[in-house]
Amino acid sequence: MPPEATSLRLTLAGALARATHRLAEAGLATPRRDAIRILADLLDLAPASIVIDGDRVVEPERRRWLDRAIERRAAGEPLAYVTGLAGFRRLVLRVDRRALIPRPETEGLVDRILARCPNGSVADVGTGTGCIALALRDEGGYRQVTGVDRSPEALALAAQNGRRTGLPVRWVRGDLTTGFGDAVFDAVVANPPYVSSQEYLALDPSVRDYEPRQALESGPAGLDASARLAVDAWRAVRPGGLLALEIAEQRPRETAELVARAGWSEVVIEEDLFGRPRYLLATKRNDK
Ligand SMILES: C[S@@+](CC[C@H](N)C(=O)[O-])C[C@H]1O[C@@H](n2cnc3c(N)ncnc32)[C@H](O)[C@@H]1O
Repeated sequence: MPPEATSLRLTLAGALARATHRLAEAGLATPRRDAIRILADLLDLAPASIVIDGDRVVEPERRRWLDRAIERRAAGEPLAYVTGLAGFRRLVLRVDRRALIPRPETEGLVDRILARCPNGSVADVGTGTGCIALALRDEGGYRQVTGVDRSPEALALAAQNGRRTGLPVRWVRGDLTTGFGDAVFDAVVANPPYVSSQEYLALDPSVRDYEPRQALESGPAGLDASARLAVDAWRAVRPGGLLALEIAEQRPRETAELVARAGWSEVVIEEDLFGRPRYLLATKRNDK
């Protein structure tokens, strides 16, 4: 930001113009849209009000804060980390670098779970921000929802989102299902890490340089976590219960095969809104 600009009275219209200019200069694809979102979230205003209430004065103590946020975005940091907020289904969650930013396709996984297992007990393995567990608690009729993560930092963020939304979820730290003890659920669901080591290196820097590696990468073929979970979840699901996974669109067949090998029946792959194979659903039918 030009130094002289900080000494002038700044209106919302002026702040929007400066921020849009800076983000365009940095080469971002949607500078005005990003600027509106940053101003709205940081000033706790509706996005429309950023445009409509252009004469409103931005408090001087907020300006440095806004400038820092715009500079972070200009440097390539994901918008959700800059604003600290992400929408997921009906919820607005806190997000930061402790956990993966919830993705729109994961909302589709929640649809599948709600359709096949709308009540009872469910465990979300690799909960990150807690988005799946919280959305299920919000929209389903579950008796109990459990969110698990190996990362204490991610789990702390999930618990923060639990308090923020007022939705009761039990947060457990553990390696996949190891924290469950003898508990048995109606469904075990997960958006596990599923990027191969080679794919990880080729990820867009806006993802690779900011989001946690342990939330993305899962061994040379990207299948380590899914393979282990397919085996471990067997003991944690009741007979007739559900396993629901988000999967890599590059590997639907391989993922389905390893799930079937672990004993699961009726293994189906479903597509997201863009026609990409993204969801794996399986039932625990027979005893192995
Ligand atoms: C792809 S992120 C998904 C986060 C969130 N569920 C979502 O959909 O946005 C995977 C999560 O799994 C966690 N994770 C990775 N390996 C794990 C393991 N062995 N046991 C438990 N959690 C694990 C990571 O810390 C990360 O939070």
